[in-house]
Amino acid sequence: MGFILQKAILLTYVLTGAAYAASVPTSLDARATSACTLTASGSDDAPAFLSAAADSSCPTVTIPSGTTLSIQSKLNMTGISNKYIDLQGTIKFNDDLDYWTDNAFTFSFQDQAAFWILGGTNIVLDGGGTLDGSGQAWYDAFAKDDDTVRPILLTLYQATDVIVQNIKMINGPEWINFVNEGKNIVFRNITISAVSTSSHAAKNTDGWDIFRSDNVTIADSDINNGDDCVSFKPNATNILVSNLSCNGSHGISVGSLGQYSGEYDLVQNVLATNIRMSNAENGARIKAWAGKNVGSGLVKNITFDGFVESNVDSPVVIDQCYETSDSDCAKYPSNTYIEDIWFTNISGTSSGKEKAVVASLSCSPDGRCSNVNVNGITVTPPSKYGDASFECANVELTGDDTSLFGTCTTSD
Ligand SMILES: *[C@@H]1O[C@H](CO)[C@@H](O)[C@H](O)[C@H]1NC(C)=O
Ligand SMILES: *[C@@H]1O[C@H](CO)[C@@H](O)[C@H](O)[C@H]1NC(C)=O
Ligand SMILES: *[C@@H]1O[C@H](CO)[C@@H](O)[C@H](O)[C@H]1NC(C)=O
Ligand SMILES: *[C@@H]1O[C@H](CO)[C@@H](O)[C@H](O)[C@H]1NC(C)=O
Ligand SMILES: *[C@@H]1O[C@H](CO)[C@@H](O)[C@H](O)[C@H]1NC(C)=O
Ligand SMILES: *[C@@H]1O[C@H](CO)[C@@H](O)[C@H](O)[C@H]1NC(C)=O
Ligand SMILES: *[C@@H]1O[C@H](CO)[C@@H](O)[C@H](O)[C@H]1NC(C)=O
Ligand SMILES: *[C@@H]1O[C@H](CO)[C@@H](O)[C@H](O)[C@H]1NC(C)=O
Repeated sequence: MGFILQKAILLTYVLTGAAYAASVPTSLDARATSACTLTASGSDDAPAFLSAAADSSCPTVTIPSGTTLSIQSKLNMTGISNKYIDLQGTIKFNDDLDYWTDNAFTFSFQDQAAFWILGGTNIVLDGGGTLDGSGQAWYDAFAKDDDTVRPILLTLYQATDVIVQNIKMINGPEWINFVNEGKNIVFRNITISAVSTSSHAAKNTDGWDIFRSDNVTIADSDINNGDDCVSFKPNATNILVSNLSCNGSHGISVGSLGQYSGEYDLVQNVLATNIRMSNAENGARIKAWAGKNVGSGLVKNITFDGFVESNVDSPVVIDQCYETSDSDCAKYPSNTYIEDIWFTNISGTSSGKEKAVVASLSCSPDGRCSNVNVNGITVTPPSKYGDASFECANVELTGDDTSLFGTCTTSD
């Protein structure tokens, strides 16, 4: 029996006496049992889902196979604990753009919005089922008006000790997973598909964005999307990304960092290993802002290891003058320093979009990158471009492949 329920009974007992209180548990228990397994009501299922999640007499909340919950109002599911959400069926967010535009949760960080915020401690989301964001209406609306604020499909907000596994995530309007102020979080066996069926692309459909979070694992997953496969945003620390197949994405990206004046962004202790990256803009990438009025930060101890790339425009990238012209970058080098980076065992093919270039490690002037290691980069461009070429600027490289890069250009 839950704490709140006990308290309610105690209070009832005090107020009305034992005879009345004795009848309360039976009727509440009967209600609670059925409330833990959700059915489609034909209208908005958000209230029933919220009350089951908040009900401590439902340690497991089940959405049975064959059931589609229609979510027509926002889900504030924060501060819950010891909850197993057994999603065998589908949770589908409706595409009432007007409602969500006015009512979605908002985050000032990169002007994000969310359908559902899930937080608290000791939470599992599992079961083989599906989250469906009805993204097509959003992809089409965004193509007409790029001020359209599209909700994130799943946001873990202030969540600790969470496992999300064996879930399909389809038709996300924008980012698919946002981990915001979380700790000890594992995603495993997630299948993401954000693909438009119209001529309007499924833009900004990042697989995962990790922000102000520590100790996050993302493993054994398939991602088919239209922006970063995984992105490490400010203050992502101790992150393991392993065994992902990313298709159509913008790569595994640190950043962009140092965007906002007055803010300090840290990304530290990241390992991305055993990654298959296909038909992508980037493979392994670090990007940090330079220029006037930007922020500061540190990117430290990042390893990209065992990438097998196929048809990737820019397989290996550091861009420490992100969104900044060469002249501005020379005048205002990045305040986001980059240290202790390993690009190891990166094979496969580039697309030829950058002709023969398969790696570009371009730092700001003035010694803002140090201890960048390159070993076993064997990516080849399409044969018509000849041998692979390797570019670098304002960085001293170490490792077996240093000679491939030759002497890095310097600017000041
Ligand atoms: C979510 O609900 C909790 C109380 O249950 C409240 O404190 C919090 O402000 C709500 N969060 C948002 C973003 O509405
Ligand atoms: C992975 O998740 C899918 C559901 O998306 C499930 O059918 C499959 O059994 C899971 N695989 C493992 C190894 O658990
Ligand atoms: C990191 O998270 C994992 C999975 O939740 C947990 O087993 C491990 O103890 C955590 N590590 C630390 C240092 O807290
Ligand atoms: C890698 O992930 C895939 C799912 O994308 C899974 O089928 C496979 O078993 C995983 N491999 C290992 C070694 O865990
Ligand atoms: C992979 O991405 C490419 C480019 O976006 C797309 O054409 C292709 O259909 C995708 N492959 C799969 C298996 O979804
Ligand atoms: C990141 O963490 C540092 C402390 O390590 C803090 O000073 C900074 O404000 C945080 N930045 C963000 C964007 O949360
Ligand atoms: C570097 O990061 C890895 C995780 O990728 C971690 O295991 C290792 O301890 C870190 N090294 C240092 C010196 O902190
Ligand atoms: C390189 O990475 C591939 C893919 O992850 C892996 O199969 C292979 O064993 C790695 N080779 C070395 C020498 O680490």
